[in-house]
Amino acid sequence: AATDMHGIEKREGWSSRSAFILAAIGAAVGLGNIWRFPTLAGESGGGAFVLFYIGCVFLLGLPLVLSEIFIGKAGQTDAVGSIRHVAAHSRASKSWGLFGGLGALAAFLILSFYSVVAGWVLYYVGVFAADFGGALLAGEPFRGALAGEDHGAIQQRLGDMFANVPLLLGMHAAFMGLTFYIIARGVGSGIEKAATILMPMFFALLVGIVIYGAFVGDFGEAVAFLFTPDWSKLTPGVMNSALGQALFSLSLGVAGLITYGSYIGGSDRLGPTAGIIAVADTSVALLAGLMIFPIVLSVGLDPAAGPTLVFQTLPFAFQEMPAGSLIGLLFFLLILVAAVTSSISLLEVPTAWGIGEMKWSRMKSATIFGLGSFVIGIFCLLGYNVWADVRPLGFWDIFAETDILDTVDGFTGKIMLPLGAFFTAIFVGWKADRRLVAETTGLSRFWLGVWRFLIAWLCPIAVAIILVTGLFPSIL
Ligand code: PFF
Repeated sequence: AATDMHGIEKREGWSSRSAFILAAIGAAVGLGNIWRFPTLAGESGGGAFVLFYIGCVFLLGLPLVLSEIFIGKAGQTDAVGSIRHVAAHSRASKSWGLFGGLGALAAFLILSFYSVVAGWVLYYVGVFAADFGGALLAGEPFRGALAGEDHGAIQQRLGDMFANVPLLLGMHAAFMGLTFYIIARGVGSGIEKAATILMPMFFALLVGIVIYGAFVGDFGEAVAFLFTPDWSKLTPGVMNSALGQALFSLSLGVAGLITYGSYIGGSDRLGPTAGIIAVADTSVALLAGLMIFPIVLSVGLDPAAGPTLVFQTLPFAFQEMPAGSLIGLLFFLLILVAAVTSSISLLEVPTAWGIGEMKWSRMKSATIFGLGSFVIGIFCLLGYNVWADVRPLGFWDIFAETDILDTVDGFTGKIMLPLGAFFTAIFVGWKADRRLVAETTGLSRFWLGVWRFLIAWLCPIAVAIILVTGLFPSIL
């Protein structure tokens, strides 16, 4: 890497505004959009959840996206350093930097199970690649997927995978290795290059499969399912998970956008940038719904299947659809691509912290956090077989029934993300110097006013509600 006259590595940045936008959309669009959103929408009964979710994204998520990018762009260093920089400039306490550290820790923990789930996807890419290869050899490239397997066998495949420790380890290692490789190469030739290659590929696949689903699936029923609200289904629990999903999907509360924002060099106006990220992320979640539900509903399967929707229910559907073998392969490739552009942002947060605060080289920092997260991931995947009965936080009522992976997921998602988002809102809404905010974001007076109201009042209150009701569900 390039060094300055003191031999210190120069900090890289994005080559353009669109490079940042693409990388940030890449970070936001991931398993959360294609696996978690349809799962939650299906389990929560569709329309009311979806509309409430969209409200959360624009009233709470968007102001927080803008806040994180603002901190990073103003600070020009890792999350902790950037927050301290803004704090110093605003005569606020430097201990605000702590919530950046909390975010980096959350990113590190999320990466561990994210890589395990991405490993499952990688295995399914392999399954469908083999299946499609077989179809080609048989001279039937457009046949349905997994010909000759009954539903029992397809379900069994997921169970067999969970029982196969070396397989799970290998997939987890391969995915984490790829994430590490990209982050070790740095911002320009690593993150930016990955985003500019993978994101167009992602969008082409997504649009292609949506169109396919519209032709062969039951598009009308899917639209009705996703957008017709039955408000009686909007229980406090459903609202809570919609709020949490909005934070997770936009990558908020883990300092990811602070870190990515810190590589913005020029005088970009941040309002439109934040808007593009939020609109793109939400569109992809909705398109993922419009991709999955027409296929699922048309063969009469249950949209409320839960986390196995993508791994069991969809393969049933691919089996009965024309060209299902090919589409199945493309579908799992699509999820894999989305997962990579998100996992790199997760590893980048602690890596940037090591570089900025510990003065480690990028290689050293990425190795430490990549390996550490890999090891935690091993615990998560062993929770699917040898440690299936382990309940790490079993003494705590909300985690009493929760296995290792879901405990890490739940602890970060229900506690750490909302905490990070809460502190971001209080810090930017109440502490940050208003001149610095106006200059760094380039917002007009009108939008500054709107944003300030949302970030100072609505966000902290709503996020505090998610946090408290998440921790004490019995009060609902
Ligand atoms: N936003 C990602 C998704 O929806 O899959 C998950 C995520 C990525 C969360 C990066 C946090 C983060 F920093």
